[in-house]
Amino acid sequence: MSPASVTITEVNKHFGKGVKRVDVLRDINLNIHAGEVLVLLGPSGCGKSTLLRLIAGLDSPSEGQVEVDGQQVSGVDPRCGFVFQEPRLLPWLSLKDNVAIGARGKRSEREIHELLASVGLTGFEKHIPRQVSGGMAQRTALARGLAGHPGVLLLDEPFAALDALTRLLMQDLLLEVAGATGATVVLVTHDIDEALHLADRIVVLAERGRGIDEIVKVNHPRPRDRSHPGLAPLRTELLSKFGIHP
Ligand SMILES: Nc1ncnc2c1ncn2[C@@H]1O[C@H](COP(=O)(O)OP(=O)(O)O)[C@@H](O)[C@H]1O
Ligand SMILES: [Mg+2]
Repeated sequence: MSPASVTITEVNKHFGKGVKRVDVLRDINLNIHAGEVLVLLGPSGCGKSTLLRLIAGLDSPSEGQVEVDGQQVSGVDPRCGFVFQEPRLLPWLSLKDNVAIGARGKRSEREIHELLASVGLTGFEKHIPRQVSGGMAQRTALARGLAGHPGVLLLDEPFAALDALTRLLMQDLLLEVAGATGATVVLVTHDIDEALHLADRIVVLAERGRGIDEIVKVNHPRPRDRSHPGLAPLRTELLSKFGIHP
């Protein structure tokens, strides 16, 4: 599938009823362009995962609508691939068979080998998850997320559980493989430097129930130099939003 756009219109989301009602997302309007890398950044509990789940059709909005390529999302959407914080691989299946699950019959054996090769796992196809490192398991999850030819790849803090160096390598790998397959990328993180390295736009969510605080455009060509002085003012701006004054 070619990259898909995502349109979020007047979305509200709450959980529970009556006195137990919790408003999580309010007045969300967002156009995610086809082929864009969009990062959702915000404090814990503000509704980042909830928003991602609404796009994937894993949950539905209380009000408003979500469209992928102009078609309303209703139910788990096959146009979206998902990568979670933990790899969530089936422990009894080989890495290759875990990726095949994401492909839902759309990929040949050879293509699955190629996908595993693209995330640096040639030679590990027949290993099972407990025989490989956390980083390798998460690379398998990335391949699985891309295996169904998604128009949109959704990633929920996908590198948060990895060590710092592996995280940096994974960020570049994500850009490489998502770029090659041509999926729109929507990634949740609370890591400002990760957002600055990856995003075309950063959507900053305010505290729970308050909606979008600001959308920051990152106009820097890729590959990005992490220490590029042009990124410093954006970093300062984002840090101060979270109450940190460098
Ligand atoms: N299924 C649910 N039922 C009730 N409350 C939920 C549910 N899912 C999320 N929430 C609540 O919504 C808020 C936002 O959660 P979440 O989207 O996971 O935040 P984030 O990913 O930004 O940390 C939290 O207060 C959480 O407890
Ligand atoms: Mg979350």
